[in-house]
Amino acid sequence: MSALSIAVLASGNGSNLQALIDEQARLGQNCPYAVTLVICDRMFAKARERAECAGIPVETVLLADILSPEERAAFTRAQKLAARSDAILALCKTRGVQAIVLAGFLSILAGDIVTEYTGRIINLHPALLPEFGGEGMWGRHVHQAVIDAGKPHSGCTVHYVDSSVDGGAHILQKKIPVLKDDTPETLAARLAPVEHEAIVEAVKVLTSRLTA
Ligand code: GRF
Repeated sequence: MSALSIAVLASGNGSNLQALIDEQARLGQNCPYAVTLVICDRMFAKARERAECAGIPVETVLLADILSPEERAAFTRAQKLAARSDAILALCKTRGVQAIVLAGFLSILAGDIVTEYTGRIINLHPALLPEFGGEGMWGRHVHQAVIDAGKPHSGCTVHYVDSSVDGGAHILQKKIPVLKDDTPETLAARLAPVEHEAIVEAVKVLTSRLTA
């Protein structure tokens, strides 16, 4: 059976993209998925370099390329999200992408992509949802909120993407303790390798569901 073609969407460092690339390299022909496209929403994402090093095509979706200056001035936030999402959908369809993995992608997907890829888009979130999710809960903000709430544990969740923000069905969660002296940075650093395992495992779960 041929590998499931996945697009990984990333905005920054791309260490989770790297984890997927490394596992694909490790498994070779036996890998059930293939990262065939990387999409970034900003020019200076390390994820771009990682994709280029691995020989994976990279596309960058910038509002400046998608909308005219007049449209950018007139569009609502929701219209801008939809415009970017439509551009991503078009890229994924053109390239025959079968599933989409959001790994540190800061733009919210909206509109047709969510329905056309229902059950085939997953997101990695750096907390134990349903707590510490939703608009504004990303990166450092999430870890700070967990620490401020005095939670004994944090972790990560990989979930399906639906029209809500961070509200789709869970695929898996992994938990780590929050230590007494943790800062958002130390918590994020301890969580990172756990997230790498989680994203690889979740993509395999998704792949086996879609190819069964
Ligand atoms: C991860 O913490 C992930 O949970 C969140 O964004 C971060 C991405 O890290 N959505 P990286 O860019 O993959 O290194």
